[in-house]
Amino acid sequence: MSETAKIIVEGKEYEFPIIVGTEGEKAIDISKLRDLTGHITLDIGFKNTGSTKSDITFLDGEEGILHHRGYSIEDLAEHASFLEVSYLLLYGKLPNAAEYEEFTSTIKEHTLANEGLLAMFNSFPTGSHPMGQLSSMVAALGLYYPKALNPHRSEEAINRTILRLMAKMPTICAMIYKKRNGHPTVYPKNSLDYVANYLNMTFGQVTMPEYEPDPVLVSAMNKLLILHADHEQNCSTSTVRIVGSSQANLYATISAGISALWGPLHGGANQEVIEMLEKIHHDGGDVDKWVAKAKDKEDPFRLMGFGHRVYKNFDPRAVIIKKSAYEVFEVTGMNPLLEIALKLEETALKDDYFISRKLYPNVDFYSGLIYQALGFPEEMFTVLFAIPRTVGWLAHMVELLGDKEQKISRPRQWYTGQDERSYTDLQKR
Ligand code: CMC
Repeated sequence: MSETAKIIVEGKEYEFPIIVGTEGEKAIDISKLRDLTGHITLDIGFKNTGSTKSDITFLDGEEGILHHRGYSIEDLAEHASFLEVSYLLLYGKLPNAAEYEEFTSTIKEHTLANEGLLAMFNSFPTGSHPMGQLSSMVAALGLYYPKALNPHRSEEAINRTILRLMAKMPTICAMIYKKRNGHPTVYPKNSLDYVANYLNMTFGQVTMPEYEPDPVLVSAMNKLLILHADHEQNCSTSTVRIVGSSQANLYATISAGISALWGPLHGGANQEVIEMLEKIHHDGGDVDKWVAKAKDKEDPFRLMGFGHRVYKNFDPRAVIIKKSAYEVFEVTGMNPLLEIALKLEETALKDDYFISRKLYPNVDFYSGLIYQALGFPEEMFTVLFAIPRTVGWLAHMVELLGDKEQKISRPRQWYTGQDERSYTDLQKR
């Protein structure tokens, strides 16, 4: 007999099954709760709510463990290419050599973005935020593939859209960077691999076609892409799943994910971290003063890049990124902001406020330092998060579309507004 949970509601006892995941995580299945008891659950911010079952990513926040399809993030970041990890997330296994070759060459077939997009793109205000541009461009991209907007697509059509989106994300992101600098677009160069191609479209010039990124920087970028590829039911992935659950098309769902990622409490934190470190640097580098501000409940300032909904221990991605930052700095030279980041981390980790709340550096704490060293401006940092996370979002959409038990996402609410009253005539109010 499997375990059950007994819940007493208004004096009456109900029994609900306890389900156990492959890594031992337990959940109380309350799907019949309202039917049986007439009650709903209230869980602001979904702190305790599992929205789905998923085979893609396992995360143990207490232990600081992150696995994709059974492989540890440390193993993947050390040995794999970003496209191998993408294949793993999308199709559930690491590709063999032939599968990898087919996957990478099909992506290369789709790297060009329709030139028609340029007209819309060029009308965006100069200096507008790259994440707003990216979200709009991805939604608009779908309009060039009307058949792909049909909710009843074949598996093959869905897969083509996935590869198309993966292929065009770096192209569009590089276009955004070029526009910001007032430079002409550098087209994809399909002799290069995914990462080198993106760096070439970004930092290469039409006047200098032989741009060759340093292999250490390509490797660091590859690692960063892997570390950001998926993170189970975070805010943007949940957004993608909610939008996708209405059978909206994949371009619309990914565009929604980009908008959710943009927020400073989520992916937008990587830009905020560097801005914070710069502020502290220009303010004289008094780390204690800023830690005190972060602790002050009257002060809206938070230590950006610190804390996580799920990790109550070191974010394993932050540990890998910190190490990678040193490798990059050996090539690009030291950044004074690293010293401030290290001091902040050291001070916060000794402070009872952070210890008691289990607040540790998260993935965004050190990533911006590497992006900056690679030559990216701050507003592009969250775009650099969106490129790999697109694969995670797509993997979740594949899972959702193939799951017969999925339903449209439609939470309930606890109504606290005005109770019933009658309409009074405009003149009598
Ligand atoms: N600085 C100061 N205090 C903090 C911080 C912080 N960065 N993070 C959490 N706290 C405090 C918070 O004030 C609360 O204190 P109290 O219990 O006294 O009210 C307690 O810690 C718990 O915080 P919470 O806001 O209830 O926790 P949450 O799980 O809802 O929020 C978070 C998680 C990531 C939004 C939050 O830690 C935060 O705002 N961090 C800074 C932004 C950031 O770095 N975001 C990136 C997240 S990781 C990557 C990603 O998702 O993209």
